[in-house]
Amino acid sequence: MLEPRPALGTLFLPSLLAIFLLSTAAALILSYSFLSYSLQEKEEESTMSVSLFDGQQIPLVGLGTWKSKPGQVESAVSVALDAGYKLIDGAHVYGNEQEVGNALKEKIGAGLNRKDLFIVSKLWNTKHRESDVRPALLNTLKDLQLDYIDLYLIHWPISFVPGDNKFPKNPDGSMQYDSVPPLETWRAMEKLVDEGLVRYIGLSNFNSQQVDEIMSNCRIQPAVLQCEAHPYLNQQRLLDHISKYKIVFQAYSPLGSPDRPWARSGEPVLLDNPTVAEIGKRYNKSVAQVLIRFQVERGVVVIPKSVTPERIRSNFDVFDFKLTQEEMQTLLGLETNWRACLPTIEVDGKQVPRDAGHPHYPFNIPY
Ligand SMILES: NC(=O)c1ccc[n+]([C@@H]2O[C@H](COP(=O)([O-])OP(=O)(O)OC[C@H]3O[C@@H](n4cnc5c(N)ncnc54)[C@H](OP(=O)(O)O)[C@@H]3O)[C@@H](O)[C@H]2O)c1
Repeated sequence: MLEPRPALGTLFLPSLLAIFLLSTAAALILSYSFLSYSLQEKEEESTMSVSLFDGQQIPLVGLGTWKSKPGQVESAVSVALDAGYKLIDGAHVYGNEQEVGNALKEKIGAGLNRKDLFIVSKLWNTKHRESDVRPALLNTLKDLQLDYIDLYLIHWPISFVPGDNKFPKNPDGSMQYDSVPPLETWRAMEKLVDEGLVRYIGLSNFNSQQVDEIMSNCRIQPAVLQCEAHPYLNQQRLLDHISKYKIVFQAYSPLGSPDRPWARSGEPVLLDNPTVAEIGKRYNKSVAQVLIRFQVERGVVVIPKSVTPERIRSNFDVFDFKLTQEEMQTLLGLETNWRACLPTIEVDGKQVPRDAGHPHYPFNIPY
């Protein structure tokens, strides 16, 4: 006996509905996972960089290269770029920009996009006169084998007499100073941006009043102020001061610069601090990683130097933990106003700051 045939609509409509429901669900699941993936990507990107005054991004962690010997720095930069670093901090006075350039050339040749990198250099104290600024940058570009850099800083507000001797000295050993007004140098720096030779210009070792002077008279504003900063010299007041101008703070010597050439026994060793070590233990992180995260947490770009591959990699491994507000306060509470980076000379058997008598010496006021 033949089964009665169901009407076409009773079979067709439910299956159509089922197909519709299934495909809608699949589309929803797909778009949700795509959305959450791109949100996660975005969040990761945003925790690894910070906005400059014009909304463009600067990476939060970079590699420092002061004291990295020519024989070591090329490999240090290569290891860093392989580990994910995008920002390399250098300077003409470090005497190693050619080797840094070799590593950049190799990696860019091997597929790394130049546009993804953020290369920083600094104008040395003997090149502050207006006519010396452009040639100094061209020299750095030649050494780095690049046709532009991302950020060029005035290394110090003080100037030395012009010439090729980076540390010109009088017969008695004192420095031969020049007194070029920082504004004169700044005008020449601005022209480098006009020419497309540098994307951003900035300052290093300027105090709050010196920053104010540039801000009140500039045509192109400083993007970055690079100064020493770590828990023994947290620079919170200077950081707050420049934040109103949307200038990004870049922290140098974030680990206390233990390899600084003038280190003496008995001076503080930040990397041995037990409070920082204790915080690190909670996250299974080293003292260095906590010191680096301390800066990242407050939106400060940080440029630890290392030539040791394992350290280079671990110094960048700071984006998978967060410090609490209480831990940040504890670290800020370690302030002692101690500077690692203060060239000194001996006068009457005592160490005194070498450049304190210069009219543009930055550290004669609190910040
Ligand atoms: N604008 C300025 O006037 C100015 C002044 C100073 C510095 N800077 C910039 O800031 C960068 C960083 O400052 P800095 O070089 O003075 O000192 P730093 O980064 O505070 O310390 C560098 C020292 O720490 C060691 N180190 C690195 N990572 C470590 C880790 N995970 N554990 C233990 N030790 C570690 C390094 O040793 P190894 O290298 O042997 O691994 C080196 O001896 C400089 O390289 C430079 O680019 C700028």
